[in-house]
Amino acid sequence: MAMGAPAASSGVVIATVVVVSSLLCGGARAQDMDNEWARPPYRGYFGPPGGSMMMLPQSDVDLLEFPLNLEYLETEFFCWAALGYGLDGIDANLTGGGPPSIGGQSASLSPFIRDIATQFCYQEVGHLRAIKQTVRGFPRPLIDISTANFGKIVETALNMTLDPPFNPYENSINFLIASYILPYVGLTGYVGANPKLITPQARKLLAGLLGVESAQDAVIRTLLYERGMSHLASYGVGVAELTAQISELRNELGRRGVKDEGLVVGPGQGAEGITQGNVIAGDRLSLAYDRTPEEILGIVYGTGNPSQHGGFFPQGADGRIARSLVA
Ligand SMILES: *[C@@H]1O[C@H](CO)[C@@H](O)[C@H](O)[C@H]1NC(C)=O
Ligand SMILES: *[C@@H]1O[C@H](CO)[C@@H](O)[C@H](O)[C@H]1NC(C)=O
Repeated sequence: MAMGAPAASSGVVIATVVVVSSLLCGGARAQDMDNEWARPPYRGYFGPPGGSMMMLPQSDVDLLEFPLNLEYLETEFFCWAALGYGLDGIDANLTGGGPPSIGGQSASLSPFIRDIATQFCYQEVGHLRAIKQTVRGFPRPLIDISTANFGKIVETALNMTLDPPFNPYENSINFLIASYILPYVGLTGYVGANPKLITPQARKLLAGLLGVESAQDAVIRTLLYERGMSHLASYGVGVAELTAQISELRNELGRRGVKDEGLVVGPGQGAEGITQGNVIAGDRLSLAYDRTPEEILGIVYGTGNPSQHGGFFPQGADGRIARSLVA
C-alpha cells in the first residue's frame, strides 16, 4: 500500500502534462479558426488598440452588443439611486456621447440598501467596460428611469391607479421593487443568448455577465422575500403579491408563456413541485428561464412589441438586433 501513493502522484503529473499540452494545441487551433472567421461572410471585430486581438463572427458581436442596452439601463438606475448621478459622473467616456438619462434621482435608502445599490452600480459599470473591451458597442441610448415610467409599470402590473403614484426613489422597499424589474430581464436574455454564441471567447464573457446578473437578482429577491408579507404603505398591496403581478406583466409583454415568477407561487409550481416559496425563479427543473431579444424588447419597451419602442427606451434600444426589428 505504501508504494501506491507515489505511483498515483506520478500518474497525476503525467496526466497534467498531457492536459497542458493538449490545451496549448487547442489554443493554436482556436487561432486558426479565428482566421477563418475573418473571411466573409463574417465581419469580425478587432479588439481595442493595445488589447488582445479579438475576432468574433458578426452573430457573436450582435449578441454581445444587444445586452449593452440593459447594462446601460441598470447602470443608470443603480448609480442614480445609490449616488445621485449616472454614468456621466463616473466615466463619461463609457457613455459614448449618448444623451443623459431621464428622471434619475438619489433614492432615500437605508445605509445597508444604499451599500448594496452602490455595489450594483459599479458592477454594472464593470459590465459595460467588459462588453466594450470585447465588441465596439454603441453609445448609451436615451433611457427613461423616471418615477413616471416605473409608476406606469407598477400601475399596469396591478391594474390600478396608485395614489400617491409609485416612486422607486422614495424608500428602500420601493427601490427593491423597482430593482426586481431590472436584472432578471438581463439574466433571461443571457440564458437565451448562450446557445446561439459560436466562440468560446464570447461564451466566457457571457457566463461572467450572467453569473453576476443572476447573483444581483438573487440578492434583490432575497431582500424582498424577507419583506414578502409586509405591505406597501398607502397601497395595501403585499410585497409578494406585487412581485407576482410584475412577473405576470412581464410574461404578458414577453408573449412566450411563463418565464417569470413572483416570490411565492401556487401549489406545484415551486422547486420539484414542492415548495411554494420561490426566492429564485426557475422552470420545472429549477433551471433559469431564457428569453430572446424580441421578448426582452417587448418587456423593456412596455409595449409587448419589439418594433414599438417606449418604456425604458423612449427612442428604442440600439445595436443591430434591436434596429433590425424596427418596423
Ligand atoms: C476618456 O478618454 C480620453 C481620451 O481617450 C482619456 O484621455 C481620458 O482619460 C478618459 N477618461 C476616463 C475617465 O477614462
Ligand atoms: C383591470 O381593471 C378593470 C377595472 O377594474 C377591469 O375591468 C379589467 O377587467 C381589469 N383587467 C384585468 C386584466 O384584470
